[in-house]
Amino acid sequence: MSVEGARVSRPQEGREPKAARRHLHGRRKGHRLSARRQRLLGELLPRLRLDLDAPAPEPLSGLFPRPVGDVWLEIGFGGGEHLAWQAAHHGDVGFIGCEPFINGVARLLGEVEAQGLDNVRVHDGDARDVLDWLPEASIGRVFILFPDPWPKKRHHKRRLIAPPVLDQLARVMRPGARLRLATDIGDYARASLTALTRHPAFAWCVSEARDWRERGPDWPETRYEAKARAAGRRCYYFTFRRCGPQAGE
Ligand SMILES: C[S@@+](CC[C@H](N)C(=O)[O-])C[C@H]1O[C@@H](n2cnc3c(N)ncnc32)[C@H](O)[C@@H]1O
Repeated sequence: MSVEGARVSRPQEGREPKAARRHLHGRRKGHRLSARRQRLLGELLPRLRLDLDAPAPEPLSGLFPRPVGDVWLEIGFGGGEHLAWQAAHHGDVGFIGCEPFINGVARLLGEVEAQGLDNVRVHDGDARDVLDWLPEASIGRVFILFPDPWPKKRHHKRRLIAPPVLDQLARVMRPGARLRLATDIGDYARASLTALTRHPAFAWCVSEARDWRERGPDWPETRYEAKARAAGRRCYYFTFRRCGPQAGE
């Protein structure tokens, strides 16, 4: 499928939908949830969960209860602290967060409730299904912060940052949109840079070493990152631009 010409994938007659063929690696559940978090999953999640069986609204801002100027996406939000921070600091933007780990989803919902955030929608599953569902050129910013590292060589094929997901991102990101990516694994950083710089839809926004050595402004630390740094691991921070004619680039 060409990057520029890709369209929203719809199940075709006689073909199994992609979502059914995908395998999600990693855990879905952790320790037992508190009563509050169970309540949030039972009451708040159904109100915020995306309905991937219905077509995505166009414009996508129709997902939110009040007008928003743009829609940003976080893939693998973990405990949701970064997503909640962004949503609180960018009230004019609507946010979609994807995370299959249900304890993390419950943690985010706790923040949504505590901070009274009305600009967050959630997919408690595989982000690749959301990428299939989103309209073309509908997303202004994407965050993929410390994707699962899968350090063993035989598991590298499980890594999220690879051509199939980059093609999906290229389709849903509008020209000029930014992708923020971070990792604490040098080998994953190198492989991601190679895949992204080879991809015709993306250009690396870099002018000096500080740009990838330091977390930029408007980019708070995540829980995973704090643990990585405490363990003495270096972190890498990348920003890529979705190239395209509408952005004049
Ligand atoms: C290493 S954790 C980092 C979490 C968080 N971003 C942070 O920095 O603290 C990676 C997260 O990505 C999630 N993840 C893995 N595969 C995913 C997928 N296909 N779609 C959405 N999230 C995914 C995992 O459940 C996990 O919570």
